[in-house]
Amino acid sequence: MTYLLALDQGTSSCRSIVFDPSGHTVAMAQKELTQIYPQPGWVEHDALEIWRLQLATAREALAQAGITAAQVKAVGITNQRETTLVWNRLTGQPIHNAIVWQDRRAEPTCVELRARGLADTIRSKTGLLVDAYFSGTKLKWILDNVPGARAQAENGELAFGTMDAWLIWQLTEGRVHATDVSNAARTMLFNVHSNQWDTDLLAALDIPANLMPAVQPSAFLFGEVSPALLGHAIPIGGVAGDQQSALFGQACFKAGMAKNTYGTGCFMLMHTGNVFQTSVNGLITTSAAQATSQPEFALEGSVFVGGAVVQWLRDGLQAIQSSAQVQGLAESVPDSGGVMVVPAFTGLGAPYWKPEARGSITGLTRGSTLAHIARASLESIAYQSAALLLAMGRDAASAGVATVSELRVDGGACVNDLLMQFQADLLGIPVVRPAVTETTALGAAYLAGLATGVYQSTSELSDLWRAERRFIPTMARVRAEELMARWEHAVAQTVL
Ligand code: G3P
Repeated sequence: MTYLLALDQGTSSCRSIVFDPSGHTVAMAQKELTQIYPQPGWVEHDALEIWRLQLATAREALAQAGITAAQVKAVGITNQRETTLVWNRLTGQPIHNAIVWQDRRAEPTCVELRARGLADTIRSKTGLLVDAYFSGTKLKWILDNVPGARAQAENGELAFGTMDAWLIWQLTEGRVHATDVSNAARTMLFNVHSNQWDTDLLAALDIPANLMPAVQPSAFLFGEVSPALLGHAIPIGGVAGDQQSALFGQACFKAGMAKNTYGTGCFMLMHTGNVFQTSVNGLITTSAAQATSQPEFALEGSVFVGGAVVQWLRDGLQAIQSSAQVQGLAESVPDSGGVMVVPAFTGLGAPYWKPEARGSITGLTRGSTLAHIARASLESIAYQSAALLLAMGRDAASAGVATVSELRVDGGACVNDLLMQFQADLLGIPVVRPAVTETTALGAAYLAGLATGVYQSTSELSDLWRAERRFIPTMARVRAEELMARWEHAVAQTVL
């Protein structure tokens, strides 16, 4: 038997998972990552720690699986996206901590780009809104603020990469400097139509082209893991940003197929096939993971506070002692009793884009209890996701693209049956939980398997995908519409 090894470099941890060729998890190792907050609004990671932990989990997962690296057909890499690193090509040392996707320090550059009238050009070339979330302005910040960096960059001494490129560089001991289209698409520097770095955008942000990694399809032979690291040379065959990797792992390969990942935040992606569709409803357009050199796209929307609302119930309100208790408390009442929680703790993302919004609890009566607030908090995850899917539906309808007929779900909170049923009820379409919910890592493993002949085509992967449970909507549509209208009313009250 041969195996696939997926390295999943996330925001809060490094994980490695061994899969068998039918997509079953054989072993998994995970290590928490240190979060560095140098000042309000700034978030950093130590890239050397990331590499150390990632390698340690890879070794641990192989040991746990009781296999050697020689039995691993290929490695796939998936990663937190946008997180930006610059390192010295000669020494391999980072010149600054990695600036994490959540970091807002590059906002002044975004203000300037908008003032220069570049928003439309950026939107049409990259699919993105001008925002400090993406890597380009973070990269500019490093070049402008680390002493000597710009001169070194101009001399060709430095390399830029997101965490995938950093891991590829480390795994190949500096032989390969590369990324894939789905990660490149998150930099605001990449033309998603030509699948190349955009020279005008590089110039607009004053970034020397020699910093940039080579961009490859997501299923591609990127290089080989040095034998010294895991005991045997293994091809790196798949690379994708975590959300696009999850879309791939959910076997959403065709236009109109969508997935939602319920993590700290929620990320919803809908495949739009080969069509680059610009949203008029507050979503972004991004490259999907690409098994070939043919461009493929997705619409994406994110919810900033998803599962994090449960942490707030636990740590802020102290309504529960552990996150797992939320379902019991929420189920102790038949409904939220008219209470609405809008967890706009850090503003609202797509489709609202209201950075100034703050959270609210509305609809309180003398009979409202913590249980109603817990239920409303849980339901807020579903409301926010439903608003995203409705926005996607409007975009799809206006472009004549197929609309979503079921929503595939993954991420930690998808185990919550109450939440999944409510999600299906609000949406009016089935919500489907797969047998393997490690879809992010699975996507990277599948890509690696495609590049190395373990799989012949994506249709083979579609056949491997299995539902564990389908949540069928039971609520009357008129009731669901009434609830969505009440949600929108509550959202409107979050901006004072
Ligand atoms: O765009 C950010 C996203 O890729 C982070 O995902 O799962 O590491 O929080 P995660």
